[in-house]
Amino acid sequence: MTTRQQQSAYLQAMGIQAWERRVAPQNEVQGDERGVAMLADQGLPSAVPPAVVSEAVVPVSAVALPERVSPSVGGAGEEEPPPPTDDYCPSLEMCEAEGQPLAAPAPLPDVRSLDWPALQAAVAGCTACELHRSRTQTVFGAGNRMAEWMVIGEAPKADEEQQGEPFVGDAGQLLNNMLRALGLGREQVFISNILKCRPPEDRVPRPAEMSQCETYLQRQIALVAPRVILAMGTVAAHHLLKVDTAVTKLRGQLHHYGEIPLVVTYHPAYLLHKPSEKANSWADLRFAAAVVAGSVLPGDGGGRL
Ligand code: URA
Repeated sequence: MTTRQQQSAYLQAMGIQAWERRVAPQNEVQGDERGVAMLADQGLPSAVPPAVVSEAVVPVSAVALPERVSPSVGGAGEEEPPPPTDDYCPSLEMCEAEGQPLAAPAPLPDVRSLDWPALQAAVAGCTACELHRSRTQTVFGAGNRMAEWMVIGEAPKADEEQQGEPFVGDAGQLLNNMLRALGLGREQVFISNILKCRPPEDRVPRPAEMSQCETYLQRQIALVAPRVILAMGTVAAHHLLKVDTAVTKLRGQLHHYGEIPLVVTYHPAYLLHKPSEKANSWADLRFAAAVVAGSVLPGDGGGRL
């Protein structure tokens, strides 16, 4: 099987039909030298025309300035659910109900100078928030610690907690297919989450939990020093960018987390429920690939997909 056939097979597994379109050869992105552009099957073409999708890899004289703080827009059709706005922690209530003493959460260690083993140990022993009471193990992150791509999701679910690795359930399988469609093996990227502990009942992470845990994520990002961060889903995008703008509006623009370019896309779990968005998700991945390839420059201005 040729590389192209393999790529088509993976895209089909994602529910996306591949067709060939050459775009701006001088700016073609890594892993996509054949200029394959994507079009959703299942009656999507009118919603996502190929010319629009291909903008992700065309010379990017059209990329919006990083949107560091945006007003809430919301309401753009169906959207991933927003994160909670309070910082009430139901696990405290749980502890009270069980009659356990409520020990004050331990302060976070200063992780800024830690190497990988020390950081992993710090995460494994973390008791900075109440999630440590319900977790069976932490989910640190996995993959290439010198990766060009860093993929950041929300929080481990049951499968991830059981295996101690992020994105190994159904959403993870789809993520693997998405990466393969780009010519990337899962082991070539570094995959992590905003939270390193599974919230009870897989509830949405609380702002206080995310803020505490961001300390570890920041150190992971500093150690990996990726060329691009792919923020998957509402929770990751909102927390990393400190905005509450709908993902629909955040995608297709170049953002930054500190100095690191950041691209927002849908969470794979959302795509499993809304496969018609896979074509847009593919456009996001191509956009991120263009960032890695250096063909998207900050300040190029206005690049909505
Ligand atoms: N969803 C996430 O956001 N992260 C995982 O690791 C698994 C599912």
